Amino acid sequence: MLLSVKLFSLIIFVHIQPEITKLFLRESALAIYKTVNPYMSKHFNTPDKVIYVCTGSKCKKKGGKDLGKFFRGMIKDMGLKGQVEIVKTECTDRCDYAPVVCMQPDNAWMPQMNEAKAQEAFQEHVLRATPNERH
Ligand code: FES
Repeated sequence: MLLSVKLFSLIIFVHIQPEITKLFLRESALAIYKTVNPYMSKHFNTPDKVIYVCTGSKCKKKGGKDLGKFFRGMIKDMGLKGQVEIVKTECTDRCDYAPVVCMQPDNAWMPQMNEAKAQEAFQEHVLRATPNERH
């Protein structure tokens, strides 16, 4: 009886041992990878504010691409990198109002944007605190 229990235990051990070894190796490899690559442990960061700049063909022709550069420069100058992001979009189906920009979280859609308007909008929707930030 004792021999059969020992034999049974041995069979079970031999059967599950590869799974335990695989698990151990996987965990060890992950720990080593995290040590070597510290970025892996970083959080999925999201910006506080996003400026969507349409760079569809019509908006691009009317200065959409330059607006993206303009906003990027303002973000850099104000030290807001990481807090405010520019996202270039495809056509937003408002071509008659090109170039189009949208600022979130205010959901401020702005038609026929130019640098002067962009500066004003940046002041109002990016630099000014949103209601959620004012407490
Ligand atoms: S290309 Fe910008 S709205 Fe169509």
